[in-house]
This record gives sequence, C-alpha cells and structure tokens, in this order.
Amino acid sequence: MLLDIVAVVLSYLLGSISFSIVIAKWVKGIDIRNHGSGNAGATNTLRVLGKGPAFFVILLDIAKGIAAVYLGYAMSDGEWIPILCGLAAIIGHNWPVWFKFKGGKGIATTIGVLATLVFFPALYAGIIAILLIVITRYVSLGSLVFAALTPVFIVLVQYNLPLLICALVIAIFAFVRHRTNIVKLLRGTENKLGAKKGA
Ligand code: G3P
Repeated sequence: MLLDIVAVVLSYLLGSISFSIVIAKWVKGIDIRNHGSGNAGATNTLRVLGKGPAFFVILLDIAKGIAAVYLGYAMSDGEWIPILCGLAAIIGHNWPVWFKFKGGKGIATTIGVLATLVFFPALYAGIIAILLIVITRYVSLGSLVFAALTPVFIVLVQYNLPLLICALVIAIFAFVRHRTNIVKLLRGTENKLGAKKGA
C-alpha cells in the first residue's frame, strides 16, 4: 500500500516537470506561459520557439507519461496503480507543483500514458487525430478528438473497465483544459498550426 502511494506521488512529481517551461527558460530565458497562447505545451513551444525546441518538448512530455505508467507496473502488482500513476502524471503536467500549479493541457503526456496502457485504441484514435490536424491545422481539435475517441476504441477493440474509466477521466481533463480552445473553435478564431500569433 505504501509503495502504491509512493508510486502515484512520484508520478505526480514527474508529471509536474513541465518541459515546455524548462526548455523555453533554458533556450530563450522566457516563461512560455507569457507568450503565444500562454499554454505550457509543445504546440505553443512550436509557435513561440520553433520546431527544434517543440520536438524535444513533445518527446519529453510523452516520455514522462510512459515513465509514470511503467513506474506503476514496477512498484505495484495492483491493476489500478499504473492507471493512477498515468493519471497522476497528467494531473502533474496540468497543475505542476514546481510551477505554481499553472501548467499545460496534458495532451503529450496523455499520448504517453494511453499508448502505454492501451496501445491499439490510442493508435487508432491517434491516426484519426493526426489526419484531422493535417486537414484542418487545428491541433486543439485533433487533441480533443484523440481524447474523445480513445475510450470509444477501448470499448470496440480492448474492453477493460478500469482502462475505460481511466480514458474517460483523461478525456474529461482534456476537455476541461481546452475550454478556451473549444470556444475559439466554435467562433472560428482558433489558432492554426503555422500561424505565429494568437492568444
Ligand atoms: O495540446 C495543446 C493544444 O491542443 C492546443 O495548444 O497552445 O494552441 O492552446 P494551444
């Protein structure tokens, strides 16, 4: 029980390492949260700092999601602990203890968590999301579709109740964190990939 709690807490602390904040500070001495959309994530890093830093941000934010789930597998036999570790990493990314609880929207970390827990449902949802981003150039739309479709594919190809609950909770996080993006999408004012400015 103690090890389970330690695993979940460590996952939260790991998720709280927001790589867009760290890399933007390191590369340009800025707080990414004061630039572009204000989001501490890979899309905004791309917008503000370009492809190189964004590449490392997405890679590392995905990696911490993967690492958190494996930490759960390594430290516990319980079916729920890897799931709770993944959720804790996403919560850490969104509300990071190291950065005054002002973090990102959690999608890269979500990709790492879901690809580790439910590879094929995440892959199918991811393919549709990427196609949508390529067609519309709205990363937020692709992110939301990815979060919404993964539970659907879990039901269709890999049904498991704890994993379905996990994916549904993650989808709720994604929609809550993308509130402003959803309003902008509905108004037609959302930032498109490749556009430099935007709030
Ligand atoms: O995952 C973040 C992305 O969906 C939207 O980012 O910076 O355009 O709000 P941003």
